Amino acid sequence: MSSEEAKKRIAELSAELKTHTYNYYVLAMPTISDYGFDKKLEELIALEQQFPEWLAPDSPSQKVGGFITKEFATVKHRWPMLSLGNTYNEQELTDFDQRIRKAIGDNFEYVCELKFDGLSISLTYENGELLRAVTRGDGVQGDDVTTNALTIQTIPKKIKTTGYPEQFEIRGEVFMHLKAFERLNNERVENGEQPYANPRNFASGTLKMQDSAEVAKRPLDTFLYFLYTEKLLFRTHWESLEAVKTWGFPVNEHNKLCGNINEVFDFIKYWDKKRFDLSYDIDGIVIKVNSYAQQQELGFTAKSPRWAIAYKFKAEQAETELLNVSYQVGRTGAVTPVANLQPVLLAGTTVKRATLHNADEIELRLKLHEHDWVFVEKGGEIIPKITSVNLAKRKPDAKPVMYMSNCPACGTLLKRKEGEAAYYCLNEDGCPPQIVGKMQHFIGRKAMNIDGLGDETIETLYQKRFIKHISDLYHLADHKEALMLMDRFGEKSINNMLEGIELSKAMPFAKVLFGLGIRYVGETVARKLANYFKTIDRLATATFEELLLAEEIGDRIAQSIIDWFKDEHHRAEIENLKASGLQFETVEVEVKLASESLLGKTFIISGVFEKYSRDELKDLIEQHGGKILSSISAKLNYLVAGDNMGPAKLEKAQKLNIPIISDQELFGLIGE
Ligand code: IVH
Repeated sequence: MSSEEAKKRIAELSAELKTHTYNYYVLAMPTISDYGFDKKLEELIALEQQFPEWLAPDSPSQKVGGFITKEFATVKHRWPMLSLGNTYNEQELTDFDQRIRKAIGDNFEYVCELKFDGLSISLTYENGELLRAVTRGDGVQGDDVTTNALTIQTIPKKIKTTGYPEQFEIRGEVFMHLKAFERLNNERVENGEQPYANPRNFASGTLKMQDSAEVAKRPLDTFLYFLYTEKLLFRTHWESLEAVKTWGFPVNEHNKLCGNINEVFDFIKYWDKKRFDLSYDIDGIVIKVNSYAQQQELGFTAKSPRWAIAYKFKAEQAETELLNVSYQVGRTGAVTPVANLQPVLLAGTTVKRATLHNADEIELRLKLHEHDWVFVEKGGEIIPKITSVNLAKRKPDAKPVMYMSNCPACGTLLKRKEGEAAYYCLNEDGCPPQIVGKMQHFIGRKAMNIDGLGDETIETLYQKRFIKHISDLYHLADHKEALMLMDRFGEKSINNMLEGIELSKAMPFAKVLFGLGIRYVGETVARKLANYFKTIDRLATATFEELLLAEEIGDRIAQSIIDWFKDEHHRAEIENLKASGLQFETVEVEVKLASESLLGKTFIISGVFEKYSRDELKDLIEQHGGKILSSISAKLNYLVAGDNMGPAKLEKAQKLNIPIISDQELFGLIGE
């Protein structure tokens, strides 16, 4: 390569890496796999070594990476937050081991830890109290996210034991459990919001939110993995981890002390398979020299310690052919492109489809062409994604894939809303998937929860022209004879359905409001609005300023409500529903218990659950006469435990012999 060519390539690589870094750290929307990023960075470093004349001071090779978001106070780290060198195969790890032996001899141990796929955080404690929580930022300074960190249950706010130093910093990873991720992401889709691509982005997006009340609703968790003190208190990393555990910090239970590199390889092999059984994502193993004295001897490079390294698992990849791109229209009109692929085996399952996110992904990032051969990867994401295109296999005459210009369902010209990557079909009242989707949302479990009526029946009833609006459901009883003439609809199932619909007329206003599917009005917001405005008429006539006065209602939600009620079809629909006898007022009723099965019993709920939020379980307990306590004591009857509850709580409950039960066992107590 000539010097001129090298100059060009270095500039290209630098620009690309900067964009990816920005997308990763600032937008929390990665646009390249970690592996792909590291390969590009390696290429850049090699070129810069060969052609030092083109090494720019602001080259991505010279920085730890990362940006700082503006809204939070910036705090300089007492000790810089470095990253780790990455390795992807046994050879690179053997090389690491040999470098270490050369420097410090053969007499040392390694600590192997899981590499949690979240975002790093640094916690400062003074006199046993959490003083500050700071994100990594650019490694030198980060964002002060203390108020948000305070909402994370497993982070101790005040240390309850003794023996800790007056001041120390402890670092670790904040992440979201897979179950919580799926539950919350489904809720986002239901509310018409953009889902997050993976748990890491969700955790990062959450920790950087301005509203810590919202953060508190999204269960984040943490594992701590490094202690920093002014004076050295311990001889080894392992000892320090054992100590911080006794101070009440969550330290991962799978850490392992290894006597040599072969034991490290065994640990890696074990977790490469077993990682899929964990309740959270890991993307590799971190290997650290155990002795602090030896760590000091080994020292640091500009970017990372010489005494530690990350072994990254290869995301399992497969190559296959793109058959075509199809487009799905959601209840809100958002259009999502999906790649249909020649079925291929990947990480134990057959993959037929991959998400394409939006038009930019197709036209700008992948520059996808018809019948391209593509690489698919399954990371933390639930649905696989296309990481890149195999250009060598592209036919010379292949046409670029062009994003749909019109709605695939109704033909309306698609529009891009300002500030959003997605295209929308704005034909709300005439576009079949939107019409059907809205009715399906209305009957759903969290809205009207209509027994005897499912998504498929809604689809069929729509196709047979029985229903077009939610309000038509309440006139179905008038068409019973016609309904009975339909295939596969027996009298019994029709009666069940009609009974379910009739019963739903008693559903409280908040549920009806949520069921209407107003954009950004999720379950909680609907409840707050119903409690604050009391009647639909007051809500419908509220001004923007009046809406903002209600708890948790911001500009975006307020505007969406105003827009919704402006539409005369919507107002007519409300009148129809009123005439059918649905609830449009909040009635202050005496709390009537669903049962007395838990009367006199006390509970604490801890951890994360697959199907329910902690608040939902709390409501359920109270509805059946139980009481929620705030701390574990001998008075407690049951501890309802989900995944990853704090070790201190668990220990205390065990000491007091308090029965620890699952959510399923709780349902058993209630008799459900
Ligand atoms: S030790 C100087 N231990 O990986 C020591 N890091 O690529 C620095 N990470 O920024 C970190 N699990 O966010 C360490 N068990 C673990 C880890 C871990 C995940 C993350 C961390 C760090 C990045 C380094």
